[in-house]
Amino acid sequence: MNQMLEERSREYRDFIESYLKEHVAVAESEPQQVLFSAMRYSLLAGGKRLRPIMAMDFCRMCGGDWKKAVHFAAAIEMIHNYSLIHDDLPCMDNDDFRRGNPTNHRVYGEGIAVLAGDALLTDAFMEASYSEVAGERMALAIRVLSQCAGSLGMVGGQVLDIQSEERQCSEQEVLDIQIRKTGGLIRAACVLGVIAGGGSGEQMAAAAEFADALGLAFQIRDDMLDVIGTQAEMGKCVGTDASKNTFVRLYGLEKCEELVNHYTNVAISALDAFENTEYMKALAKSLTDRTV
Ligand code: IPE
Ligand code: IPE
Ligand code: MG
Ligand code: MG
Ligand code: MG
Repeated sequence: MNQMLEERSREYRDFIESYLKEHVAVAESEPQQVLFSAMRYSLLAGGKRLRPIMAMDFCRMCGGDWKKAVHFAAAIEMIHNYSLIHDDLPCMDNDDFRRGNPTNHRVYGEGIAVLAGDALLTDAFMEASYSEVAGERMALAIRVLSQCAGSLGMVGGQVLDIQSEERQCSEQEVLDIQIRKTGGLIRAACVLGVIAGGGSGEQMAAAAEFADALGLAFQIRDDMLDVIGTQAEMGKCVGTDASKNTFVRLYGLEKCEELVNHYTNVAISALDAFENTEYMKALAKSLTDRTV
């Protein structure tokens, strides 16, 4: 990995890690400690933190102080973690491992796991409200976050994903699933980064374009790893999406590798609207052959 990519990634990751650790789901005087424990069990389990990194770096690429994007970045990571807790439930993907640990419901039971997800989702909006962006830009950020995460975004995509099981989908149907279920939160991260950094409407549109293409590349790679990855490396069960409609099922692994590169290049070409794009380009490229 090139040094600039490694160093800046570590800087972003350390910053968001310590922010989440110190500020999220800590309320020592409250009696519902099991809830905070379940929320922190998932939130602090060592994800890649890609969405917060994207939010902070899009802020920087717009000329803003990247640390100021931390509230939006944390909010998106909280929503991401809620989505994973619910995604792993027996009524959804029924997975037993996540990031090398037993899934939330395996440790806390289904009731608390559902509620920990609910609380992460709801508290994410409290977290976003701490951002210093003023007035209309704050309203826009909240609207984008809701659109990307809710019925029009991630949740909508998860519904299509469940509905697609046990039947053959067309390419367009698979695109509809992926753009929403995974693209949604990546889009929120990039666009909210632009909002935090004081970027223009044009830059918001370019960030969305980048995110849609990168989200596709990211999920196609995730689906490839469900086939070629190992549980030891990824920390989550593999082979569990065999009944799902994925690009791997549609086109096979070889074509998927091409598609990951294709969508990554489409994403990179949307970065022309920004300054100092070397880091984001290197990050996008590094995800094409990720094994985690
Ligand atoms: C996993 O996301 C779920 C998908 C949308 C494919 P990540 O691969 O970003 O998960 P963590 O946060 O790094 O564990
Ligand atoms: C999950 O997709 C996308 C979400 C919105 C949570 P997957 O079901 O493929 O994610 P993993 O493989 O369990 O992380
Ligand atoms: Mg799933
Ligand atoms: Mg899953
Ligand atoms: Mg998967």
